[in-house]
Amino acid sequence: MVELISGSPDETSAAGKQIAKHLGSGSVVALQGTLGSGKTCLTKGIALGLGIKENITSPTYTIINEYPIPSGKADTLYHIDVYRLNSEKEFDDLGGQEIINSNGISVIEWSERISGLLPDNTIMVLLEITEVSLRRILIQGLDKL
Ligand SMILES: Nc1ncnc2c1ncn2[C@@H]1O[C@H](COP(=O)(O)OP(=O)(O)OP(=O)(O)O)[C@@H](O)[C@H]1O
Ligand SMILES: [Mg+2]
Repeated sequence: MVELISGSPDETSAAGKQIAKHLGSGSVVALQGTLGSGKTCLTKGIALGLGIKENITSPTYTIINEYPIPSGKADTLYHIDVYRLNSEKEFDDLGGQEIINSNGISVIEWSERISGLLPDNTIMVLLEITEVSLRRILIQGLDKL
């Protein structure tokens, strides 16, 4: 497990960039944390670390955003936000199950809502707001960044 404290959005993004180094085909990163805890911010860093140049936008309404990965670590980054879904079945109906079992890389916001579908080797990232601009970030499934 890795624990770190981020003092700014840039630092949270930098943590995401570090996490990206450990990702490859089929990796799943499950993010948990309240509104505004930095899940999208961290995902932007992961995308940067994967060499994605596109602007990452929150999938709050689209649920699943896809980005080709130019570095070739995997073919596609799936940025998923299940906040608006009501059940694991709804996620499965959108093809979510197939995506997280694919050879792409999946990063999932509000992942606790589909905890039953996450693979055993999922990297879990818990983000906690400790002060206005401070975030405690716990990464389970990695020994170091
Ligand atoms: N240390 C920090 N790390 C990340 N974000 C921070 C930090 N300090 C302040 N912020 C602010 O917190 C907000 C984080 O927003 P972000 O969209 O990443 O959260 P989120 O967890 O994805 O929220 P949501 O649940 O709505 O999807 C931004 O407004 C950002 O500027
Ligand atoms: Mg978000």
